Amino acid sequence: MRRRSQLRVVANEAVGPYSLIRVERGDIDPGVPGQFFMLEAPGRVLPRPMSLCQAPAGELAFLLEAIGPGTRAIAAVEPGDEIHVFGPLGNGFRLDVEKPLLVGGGIGVAPFPYLSEQLNGPPAILGFRSDWHAEAAALVPNAEVVVEPTLVTELLIEGQDVLACGPEPMLEAVHKIAPKAQLAWEAPMACGYGACYGCSVEVDGVLQRLCVAGPVLEEAA
Ligand SMILES: Cc1cc2nc3c(=O)[nH]c(=O)nc-3n(C[C@H](O)[C@H](O)[C@H](O)COP(=O)(O)OP(=O)(O)OC[C@H]3O[C@@H](n4cnc5c(N)ncnc54)[C@H](O)[C@@H]3O)c2cc1C
Ligand code: FES
Repeated sequence: MRRRSQLRVVANEAVGPYSLIRVERGDIDPGVPGQFFMLEAPGRVLPRPMSLCQAPAGELAFLLEAIGPGTRAIAAVEPGDEIHVFGPLGNGFRLDVEKPLLVGGGIGVAPFPYLSEQLNGPPAILGFRSDWHAEAAALVPNAEVVVEPTLVTELLIEGQDVLACGPEPMLEAVHKIAPKAQLAWEAPMACGYGACYGCSVEVDGVLQRLCVAGPVLEEAA
């Protein structure tokens, strides 16, 4: 069940260019891999959506890329600080798959450590724009790593149950090769629970709120 809680930051560790923020779990349920949490961005009005990256005992961990004011504010938290966390939200990955293959690009690998743990370490193909970014692959067991200009889709083979998260062009390319893939999409989100309609996207010709219908969808958004 989703809850709101003020959680203490345990650690903020650099993983390549990304920040792995660990907070005390409190009474928050980690949920299903691919679900997300709204994290307070200190000093900003709106929280920001983040996938759960790891769920070690007593903690929740988020991997984030500082790309704008909100993510920069979250990336600046220090051990001992407290931040407001709300979740778990949305629909995560379906785990009843026979031959899982995780396919991720860049910060899209964020939900994979927790997903991999829940699926007993399936193979993964992860793509990054540099060797520095690729340091995040160390968080995902059994990962084959490619760095641009090689793309993850060049390694995809048919007959796998693909679970993917990454930039939109990567998800669209994965969908062409694996039409039944579960894809974790992104859209800017203000509330995270269906109230603001800020995350509306077209799914199969119908407008849907991604925070309610997704973020994981089995159709192309
Ligand atoms: C369900 C979900 C899970 C996410 N999980 C993670 C995660 O685990 N780690 C992580 O680092 N990031 C994650 N994100 C993305 C993260 O929420 C955004 O990068 C963040 O909200 C940007 O806020 P900002 O203020 O730093 O930058 P802004 O100034 O708001 O945005 C910077 C640029 O990115 C664009 N942008 C902002 N948010 C999004 C978005 N959600 N989708 C596409 N473009 C966007 C803006 O248009 C702008 O061009 C997730 C997003 C969603 C929807
Ligand atoms: S983020 Fe408000 S409706 Fe989806």
